[in-house]
Amino acid sequence: MKMLQSCAVLALMAAVTIGAGCAPKKVEPVKTAAIPDGTIEPAVWGKVYPIEYELWKKTGEPNPAGKSRYKKGNDEGRERPDKLDEFPFLALLYNGWAMGSEYSEPRGHLNMIKDQLDVDPGRYKAGGSCLTCKTPYAPILQGKMGKDYFAKPYKEVLAQVPQEHQTLGVTCIDCHNNNDMSLRISRGFTLGKALDKLGVDQSKLTQQDMRSLVCAQCHVTYSITKDAQMKSTDVMFPWEGSKWGRITIENIIKKLRNNPSSGEWTQSVTGFKLAFIRHPEFELFSNNSVHWQAGVACSDCHMPYTKVGTHKVSDHQIMSPLKNDLKACQQCHSETPEWLRNQIFAIQDRTMSQFIRSGYATATVAKLFEMANKAQTAGRQIDKDLYAKARDHYEEAFYRVVFIGAENSTGFHNPSEALRILGDATSHAGKAEGLLRQALAKAGVTVPEKVDLELAKYVNNRGTKKLMFKPQDEIKDPFAAK
Ligand code: HEC
Ligand code: HEC
Ligand code: HEC
Ligand code: HEC
Repeated sequence: MKMLQSCAVLALMAAVTIGAGCAPKKVEPVKTAAIPDGTIEPAVWGKVYPIEYELWKKTGEPNPAGKSRYKKGNDEGRERPDKLDEFPFLALLYNGWAMGSEYSEPRGHLNMIKDQLDVDPGRYKAGGSCLTCKTPYAPILQGKMGKDYFAKPYKEVLAQVPQEHQTLGVTCIDCHNNNDMSLRISRGFTLGKALDKLGVDQSKLTQQDMRSLVCAQCHVTYSITKDAQMKSTDVMFPWEGSKWGRITIENIIKKLRNNPSSGEWTQSVTGFKLAFIRHPEFELFSNNSVHWQAGVACSDCHMPYTKVGTHKVSDHQIMSPLKNDLKACQQCHSETPEWLRNQIFAIQDRTMSQFIRSGYATATVAKLFEMANKAQTAGRQIDKDLYAKARDHYEEAFYRVVFIGAENSTGFHNPSEALRILGDATSHAGKAEGLLRQALAKAGVTVPEKVDLELAKYVNNRGTKKLMFKPQDEIKDPFAAK
């Protein structure tokens, strides 16, 4: 790799000595008036900071198509792809609840509540909990309603938001203090508690930490924990046992599997009650990635400095760096956009290939469980020990596939860790398959060499909208030949 730009090198040296991180020189906000405490309306903030406000509004607009290889959720002129069409094995694995009905790729921030109201209604069945990462009113509502906030029906909780703000997504107050525009954690009831679990002293967080943590309020995995009646009780980050800079998949899985209240749904193919993992961008990125170790923050890549007129500001049109022609990377890297793009694509192709392979391997095991369960119902003896061991390996594989499938960078945020996780997934799935084949053979059931996944059953007629498979959106293994 070529030399980094000199400002980044300076910042890097600072990162090593004083932990300030690799951020280019801070910009001076242009301030014209004061914002009253508690103001949620972004237009009021916008009167004071018009440039950031206009850029923020642009997250509601689509981006030029064709710049990103795998993230087309916000591409101009096309419908948002659904992960279940892109990866048919996910439709099989998630069958049994609404994640298996509709699972659209993300798009810009301004759309978040509109998109939630648009999606299969099963997706917000958990209740008010689902608003936690969607409305700036979430902390107020949770404070006011207590446990009811999590459990009451989604629409009932949304109705408590003032009418004019019912489709307002993440806004200034979610990330900023109104008086000095410093960054803040508004989600004390989720991220705040989770940082305590990591043993982080919140009074010691640096500006550079905050440039990632404002994003970690939402771009993290969580469990919507359940009581015995399957009513939602909390939004919990499964971070116990992990450390700052080292939230591992192993600990996340341990926490989910050891906590019965994390069982949110029943997988129809296997009949297993399971937990789930959502968009773990912060967890993957902060787990010892090269950029994290170099002191780089989410905002460095997703909110690069940009010139508007004579002002230099943080680009509040948050998006994929590929769609911004790698301007973010060029703050630190002196390579050409082509070089940088090729690096991203090379990392993503490798991750994608391993993801698809481990996904199909895990889906095959799910079908073998279906076979074993059927044989058992038909009166055959399935060896309990083999079955239990297979289930253990299967769940280990399953959560790893879900983790990478839900993480939105296709491996870029931490390439070697992503490949390690997928390698383990494939290995666990292989062990589970071997054990189940042994159990089935012992019970006198003949298993074909190639297990029929019956994918058409899962990818078609999905959910209340009866969505049908869109083969044109399927993403194929980029290294399929071998
Ligand atoms: C209050 C919760 C919340 C916060 C805080 C938040 N995000 Fe998001 N983000 C979301 C949701 C929800 C979506 C998906 C919106 C949709 O699909 O309608 C999203 C989408 C995105 C996308 C995809 C955009 C596209 O064009 O497809 C990027 C990139 C992103 N966020 C980065 C960030 C970064 C970086 C930060 C911190 C500076 C951040 N987000 C803070 C909730 C949040
Ligand atoms: C998802 C989090 C997020 C949201 C939402 C957000 N900002 Fe920011 N904002 C940031 C980050 C991160 C920075 C960079 C802070 C730093 O490093 O000092 C920033 C910086 C700023 C600054 C300092 C000057 C600059 O451009 O760097 C201003 C002013 C500002 N934001 C205004 C706004 C306004 C107005 C809104 C609402 C319309 C808003 N922000 C919404 C995260 C956010
Ligand atoms: C070193 C640069 C870098 C850092 C740091 C970084 N990202 Fe990314 N991020 C990327 C790239 C590159 C992609 C892939 C975009 C694509 O495929 O279009 C991406 C993808 C994403 C996406 C999906 C974008 C889309 O269009 O759907 C989200 C969301 C996201 N990152 C959030 C985060 C969060 C949150 C953090 C911090 C925890 C973070 N990123 C840190 C470079 C970075
Ligand atoms: C704030 C500064 C900063 C930004 C922004 C940034 N990088 Fe980096 N990047 C670094 C540093 C520092 C390293 C580590 C350099 C080293 O150790 O040689 C690095 C390393 C890399 C590497 C080598 C990684 C490895 O695993 O060895 C690649 C590839 C890379 N960056 C691509 C990108 C791309 C693509 C973007 C934009 C999406 C980007 N970077 C944004 C600072 C940055």
